[in-house]
Amino acid sequence: MSIIFDKKTGIITMNTKNTSYQVLINEHNFLLHLYYGQKIHNTNMTYLYMMFDRACAGNPNEVYPSRTVSFNVLPQEYTGYGVGDFRVNSIALQNADGSYGVDFRYVKHEIKKGKYALPGLPASYDNGDEADTLIITIEDALTKMTVDLYYGVFEEKDMITRCAKIINNGQTPVTLHKASSMCIDFPYGKWDLINFHGKHALERQIERRHVSHAIETVGSTRGTSSHQQNPFIILTSQDATEDFGDCYGFMFVYSGGFKAEVERDQFDSTRVVMGIQDEAFTWDLKPECVFYTPEVIMTYTGNGLSSLSHNYHDFVRNNICRGKYKVARRPVLLNNWEATYFNFTDKKLVEIAKDAAGLGVELFVLDDGWFGVRDSDNSGLGDWYVNTDKIKCGLPELIRQINDLGLKFGIWIEPEMVNEDSDLYRAHPDWALRMPNRIPTRSRNQLVLDMSREDVIAYLYERMSELLRDNHIEYVKWDMNRSLSDLWSATLPAGRQGEVAHRYVLGLYKLMDQLTREFPDVLFEGCSGGGARYDAGILYYSPQIWCSDDTDPIHRLNIQYGSSFGYPISTVGAHVSASPNHQTGRSTPLNTRAVVAMNGTFGYELDPTELTEEEKEQIRYQIKKFKEYYHITQDGKYYRLSSIKDESYEAWQFVSKDKTEALLDLVITSTQPNPTLINLKLKGLEEEAIYEIDSKTLPDWGKTFEIVDIDMREDYIVKKEVFSGSALMHGGYTYPWVIGDYPAIQIHLKKIK
Ligand code: GLA
Repeated sequence: MSIIFDKKTGIITMNTKNTSYQVLINEHNFLLHLYYGQKIHNTNMTYLYMMFDRACAGNPNEVYPSRTVSFNVLPQEYTGYGVGDFRVNSIALQNADGSYGVDFRYVKHEIKKGKYALPGLPASYDNGDEADTLIITIEDALTKMTVDLYYGVFEEKDMITRCAKIINNGQTPVTLHKASSMCIDFPYGKWDLINFHGKHALERQIERRHVSHAIETVGSTRGTSSHQQNPFIILTSQDATEDFGDCYGFMFVYSGGFKAEVERDQFDSTRVVMGIQDEAFTWDLKPECVFYTPEVIMTYTGNGLSSLSHNYHDFVRNNICRGKYKVARRPVLLNNWEATYFNFTDKKLVEIAKDAAGLGVELFVLDDGWFGVRDSDNSGLGDWYVNTDKIKCGLPELIRQINDLGLKFGIWIEPEMVNEDSDLYRAHPDWALRMPNRIPTRSRNQLVLDMSREDVIAYLYERMSELLRDNHIEYVKWDMNRSLSDLWSATLPAGRQGEVAHRYVLGLYKLMDQLTREFPDVLFEGCSGGGARYDAGILYYSPQIWCSDDTDPIHRLNIQYGSSFGYPISTVGAHVSASPNHQTGRSTPLNTRAVVAMNGTFGYELDPTELTEEEKEQIRYQIKKFKEYYHITQDGKYYRLSSIKDESYEAWQFVSKDKTEALLDLVITSTQPNPTLINLKLKGLEEEAIYEIDSKTLPDWGKTFEIVDIDMREDYIVKKEVFSGSALMHGGYTYPWVIGDYPAIQIHLKKIK
């Protein structure tokens, strides 16, 4: 059992392979955090917890007249606003008498085999005997407001999850104003905070800074996890690097607005609180009612950021993602969005599919524009019936023709949205989120359906399931192209409108749950104007997410680099698009575009009928290579070999699970004349094994760009190169000198002894 309770000391210790998390039930029944970090073999860590008479501090009644215990230095596991902890609190609520105050003490705890689940919310799961659950009940003695703190301990994975079940065991209603999922105090240490910010078409840019005495807040008020901030933060020791240092990760399994707060207090103790966004949030909690907070997935490693990423990659892949495509190889797809945008006919689609099939593509995806009256993004959303002006033959016939070419068929939907110019809106204007007497704010000329309404969810389930039942659809791209505003629902009374944002997310999860259960063989890909809902909540329903609307491979390097800290490559939707790129106008070699897209789920987003024969030959080769390398890129370990600060190149590496193969990728982002050679120390190989380079694709630096573009041919294999694992890891590998615009090199290594 990974959870141990010592009755004598009141200490509960959670142990994973390399980490420990310890809490103390003290003599006054405060539930205190003692330690989280490197494994301490059940050592009693109470010596770390010291109390002094601190000025300007509130003392709990139990210790009267002593002044050595004060709320605002107690490292409580879950803190209530209003009684004297002046740091960021876990929960804020208003009691029926109008007071804001809640003060928790330990009541009981329970240790169980297996991992808890959360009703109506995505959460990590146990694949059989992997996890244990600890539930600690804390209660406010006066009001009987109760919180069950849930801890999921995945011993082998070095993962501990947290969330809270808030129960009103009192006699009167309570209004929640803040309901976070977890709180943790680090009494010592100087920390850096890493977060991933961005914007549309440039998501998850890494940012790192020292945690200062100003409270740092990373969050979203957009009703989605957002392009602007990802619900994943890392706290590291200030000396931490890829391979060294203390790193703590906090990943939120939630797709709506969120808030992560990091506060370094007056005594340099650092507190992290994470939960749903509390701005304008309220929740009416009547007696006997329950509110579940979403889950936070935490990990600790003393071995730097690569190790932290490995923990998350493995966990997200195996304990968050579900369904057939969690393990089955995902088909190589071609999406028609950047090929045609809204301008296509059934004939044109079949032409594209025909050429795609000839390239080795396995799935054809019909993007936006196939339904309603939809010649631009100003109309049609909500009318999920085929547009027979464009698809004259009808959807079943189009799918038949595409299937006959040997391709699976996939489709784009945006179920949560509606255009005012649509039959759905004309029939149900009240289904869109809007405030009374106020014209709702449009974004992309669309409004948001009120997903907190049961009738809306029931309608969408019926329409979407019918679409999937009546047509041989094997892939769905589930898009969501705006942030939420005008949050008001006709189904809730005035005093409960603060619930709408969270109820929206619960409605979304309900719909996704119903559809993924009913259609377990369909591959779902999440999307939100690219990567505005790139989070572990969505990954519970769809094992991959379109990472960004920016398909420029050079920008993608940074976007995918940032994404890689928390999310595995198998979740990163990445496509080869046309050159010059549609978002930036930048021209890049086809080889480079493929190397970057192979750092993701891989596919194409271009018109294959416009390709030259040479390009087609190269694409056939790319697809063949992608399939060959699939087990390394999607299941292996991923290492960042360069940091964002390296200005002239970006490099990364995959190592297969059994360490018998590795794939090295390098893209030069700024070509230098007469350059310093790039030598990089490889990672994760077997020290004593001998590796041979058995395939190397690189731009031919003496020749022209056309030749750069065809050098992925199989015959372009240079002389045999053999190295020991230790040589590659300690002496490093020196990359060839290459020139040209944005050249890329891909090298495959195989263990030969
Ligand atoms: C979003 C998606 C794109 C595409 C368009 C269609 O922006 O991210 O990939 O599907 O919508 O409107």
